[in-house]
Amino acid sequence: MFSITQQINDQGHLQIGGIDTVALAAEFGTPLYVLDEEDFRSRCREYQRAFHTLKPDVGISYASKALLNLAVCRIIEQEGLGLDVASGGELFTAAQAAFPANRITMHGNNKSEEELCQALTIGVGTIVVDNFLELETLQSLLSPQQELRILLRVAPSIDPETHPYIRTGQTDTKFGFAVLTGDLLRAVSRVRDDSRLELAGFHCHIGSQITDLKFFEETTATMAQIAADIRDETGYATAELNIGGGLGVRYLPGDSLPDLKTYAQTIVGTLRARCAELNMPEPALLIEPGRSLVAEAGITLYRVGAIKQAPLPKGGARTYLSVDGGLSDNPRPQMYQARYHAILANKADQPAQFSYRIAGKHCETDTLIPEVLLPEAAPGDLLAIFSTGAYNASMSSNYNRLPRPAMALVRDGQADLIVQRETLTEVTQMDRLPERLR
Ligand code: LLP
Repeated sequence: MFSITQQINDQGHLQIGGIDTVALAAEFGTPLYVLDEEDFRSRCREYQRAFHTLKPDVGISYASKALLNLAVCRIIEQEGLGLDVASGGELFTAAQAAFPANRITMHGNNKSEEELCQALTIGVGTIVVDNFLELETLQSLLSPQQELRILLRVAPSIDPETHPYIRTGQTDTKFGFAVLTGDLLRAVSRVRDDSRLELAGFHCHIGSQITDLKFFEETTATMAQIAADIRDETGYATAELNIGGGLGVRYLPGDSLPDLKTYAQTIVGTLRARCAELNMPEPALLIEPGRSLVAEAGITLYRVGAIKQAPLPKGGARTYLSVDGGLSDNPRPQMYQARYHAILANKADQPAQFSYRIAGKHCETDTLIPEVLLPEAAPGDLLAIFSTGAYNASMSSNYNRLPRPAMALVRDGQADLIVQRETLTEVTQMDRLPERLR
């Protein structure tokens, strides 16, 4: 499960980015999100290499919903990727980091007028228009001379194997213009009637944590078909097709994944073959990976607290090991039955032979890991959970009024705080007490 810089050091501790995790926990406290900069950057490069050797005009944008802060924006900018944002908050973060606006794509199925104004003011490169209300709002906001590059989001009617909550491209969906009802065709006509709007092409996203390549193949083929149908009906030739998020990732040691080269070959090969069959010039391709760029570059460090045994109805007992975080820093096990793997970071060289259930500290059964083998654990040990870089910090909360963890960026033996730990004062600072309750 180790990222490229993770290893076990001479003291038998887990090390990441050249730093002992025991030292990281001592310096920054726990729970602590740790982001391995070299691993993150190398995944950005690997994506570019995999696609650009096959097709130079592939645009890769990082889906910032996976993990976003100022440092992440800088890394993405330096690696030459674009940035996808899906809310005013994500866009504001990008602007605070001075991310080049023309490399930003704005998403969302219910962008507010305020968010659209913000996007126009900042001058984002592309807005992915989801619905007719958004189209009308945009048209009302644009001045007669103003120009805007857009993609139309399509519901491609593809239902991939992944958790139902993270499927987004099926027929029965809130996202995009339906093809079957003729909405997409009507949207294309409206856009083409407005000379201020440059229709660059079509966008779709079928879901996340998808590991079977056949769904990426189906998506690419479907998008090419949709583009050809639109061409046949309207004469519009699409310049770009955006097929949404990237490959799934490894959460457990037994998980196997297609490699990026095969993934890129599947997508580019399908596009090429379908365009030839449809007698259509090959459009530029865009992809927006989030999870696969950052999930495995992140770990979370927790301090082990209470350890207890609970008798099981059929005999025997289960050992519960509670940590100092849980649902608030990682809601994914409860939301999506997501599975994770862990080790004792301060006993990383010892054989893992005792079974534990890893519990959070919240006032409900917030199991982080139903069962994992560890060396014999004691209060004060340090637990490292792997593959927590994506959709953990970004979906964290203050449940039970827990302050959100800090995040450290590690590289070549250096650790920098990139997100400060919240304080209890910050957790309560938005509360207001009306006069009549004083
Ligand atoms: N593009 C669009 C329009 C998206 O909606 C998403 C993710 C992505 C790209 C990036 O997909 P990825 O490469 O990360 O698979 N909170 C959930 C994940 C929701 C993903 C939603 N959209 C989770 O924790 O599993």
